[in-house]
Amino acid sequence: MNTIAPPHSETAVIDLSEVIAIKNLRTTIGRANVPIVDGINLSIKRGKTLGIVGESGCGKSMLSLSVMGLVPPICRIEGSINLTGQDLVGLSDGQMRRIRGKRIAMIFQEPMTSLNPVLTVGFQIVEAMRAHDSYSTAKSLRERAIRALEQVRMPAAERRFDEYPHQLSGGMRQRAAIAMALCCKPEVLIADEPTTALDVTVQAEILDLLRDLQAETQMAIILISHDLGVVAQMADEVAVMYAGRIVEHASCTSLFEDPQHPYTIGLLGSIPRMDIEEKELLSIDGNVPLLTSMPNGCRFHPRCVFSDIKCARERPVLQGINENHFVACIHSPIEETSK
Ligand SMILES: Nc1ncnc2c1ncn2[C@@H]1O[C@H](COP(=O)(O)OP(=O)(O)OP(=O)(O)O)[C@@H](O)[C@H]1O
Ligand SMILES: [Mg+2]
Repeated sequence: MNTIAPPHSETAVIDLSEVIAIKNLRTTIGRANVPIVDGINLSIKRGKTLGIVGESGCGKSMLSLSVMGLVPPICRIEGSINLTGQDLVGLSDGQMRRIRGKRIAMIFQEPMTSLNPVLTVGFQIVEAMRAHDSYSTAKSLRERAIRALEQVRMPAAERRFDEYPHQLSGGMRQRAAIAMALCCKPEVLIADEPTTALDVTVQAEILDLLRDLQAETQMAIILISHDLGVVAQMADEVAVMYAGRIVEHASCTSLFEDPQHPYTIGLLGSIPRMDIEEKELLSIDGNVPLLTSMPNGCRFHPRCVFSDIKCARERPVLQGINENHFVACIHSPIEETSK
């Protein structure tokens, strides 16, 4: 089983097999420096997939945009994002442009976020390659772009090269976006809800494709999804985010078999289970707090059935229950009978 290396301390030794190591990442917004991402520590090794889950508004996309250097100008980023020895925090736009696409790439829920509707698919892939390669000829870039489309199993790749995004189906557009993201062979791919907009069959095909491409290239994948089934299938380890913080981080098996944080337990309770006769789905009452009114102590405590006065006062830190499993809850371990 994959052992989680990250450790949630500033003194953790850098592991050389880590492609990316995020330390104390804090992204704030506006003059009041309201934190959207608040003290995140994560790392990923080559060829591995880290799933990030959490309800809408927990800061998952802001975390990925922070890593990509694509946050709105009113945001400020602190901490470090170490990409094989280079800290991305504090790089200029120009320096970040040289890294984006080449070393880290991103795909989005809606492929049209990355595709331009008025340019052909082929032209866009060629331009993505040209941004990091000013030496290759137009002919060789075209050939490489067609190969990139073939690699993502685009049907009739050569013909699609000259087509516009609107001529493609949703699944084909996502394949084109993946081809564009991967054409420069990035070390890290961030996939933010990559299959949410697709129907189930196409979703399975795209996930298969990502797995195969990862096996070929050994890229590390950060997979953001509200779909726990997708994460369970794809991830080696999973971080659960709540209100800008990580509340639980574990190997995939350990997280799904033995969830520790009441929030994770609630999230897992919210998935329909085929194996038990349960008419009513468990769900978590209440909503993710607003950025401007974050509760003190554990941010989940107002919604937590286990909370007490200490939870409102103390900020829980992630602590290891074993080398594969970390949880930020002062009540952990919660008795088996209460789960
Ligand atoms: N451009 C922005 N300006 C102001 N606030 C923002 C901006 N983008 C996001 N936020 C706020 O930051 C918080 C985190 O948003 P984010 O989009 O990262 O959540 P998410 O976990 O990706 O949610 P979802 O599952 O819906 O995609 C939310 O409270 C959101 O309102
Ligand atoms: Mg999002």
